[in-house]
Amino acid sequence: MKKIIITLDGYSACGKSTLARQLAKELNYVFIDSGAMYRAIALYFLRNQINSANSQAVISALNNITLQFKFNNTTGQSDIYLNDENVEPFIRDMQVSEKVSEVAALEQVRTFAVAQQQLMGIEKGIVMDGRDIGTTVFPNAALKIFVTADPAIRAQRRYQELYEKNPTITLKEIQSNLEMRDAADSNRTVSPLRKAVDAIELDNSLLTREAQLTLVLQWARNAIN
Ligand code: DC
Repeated sequence: MKKIIITLDGYSACGKSTLARQLAKELNYVFIDSGAMYRAIALYFLRNQINSANSQAVISALNNITLQFKFNNTTGQSDIYLNDENVEPFIRDMQVSEKVSEVAALEQVRTFAVAQQQLMGIEKGIVMDGRDIGTTVFPNAALKIFVTADPAIRAQRRYQELYEKNPTITLKEIQSNLEMRDAADSNRTVSPLRKAVDAIELDNSLLTREAQLTLVLQWARNAIN
């Protein structure tokens, strides 16, 4: 059967990764969470106190970064490795969420990440989620989806997810982080978050995960045939 590239872009905490993962599983495609790559780079910058304003420091940091996705047999999902360390347990911490938009706005960082993402798509058969996947990474993708959801619902969903790991976290903290990231991701100069002209918009505020998957699977099957 013909294999295609499916892109899912949208604001933070719209459930893009969950949907992309489910979709990939149904289609027997590879799921790639491009945000995990930016998060792993942000973690490296935090740990090594890299000054984002110093372009020489940014370039040499990137020269020291190797990113890989490796399948985890226990969870059945892919984990992101930063220089051979599985950093999946750390990349969703608030500290990283607060740093990531600044790091992801850097031109050198985007060039570095986009080149690797494009290589992952060479054989097609992938579902990739992010902010600029349908606009910059795969402008010719056969199916592009732009996911949106009500901001209050997004904050609540992310709160439930993060509370299990960190019961001291507050809804307000999450809301302001989402607002900050949405603004930073939409207003940056390089590859800002935009709906591609040929993307289908999916507002999942009131959809169950099952209903959303059924709908998107239909779009995918139409695009494949
Ligand atoms: O999808 P996420 O929330 O895990 O992404 C983390 C951050 O990475 C997000 O705030 C913006 C950035 N990002 C990006 O700039 N481009 C992408 N393709 C994916 C993520």
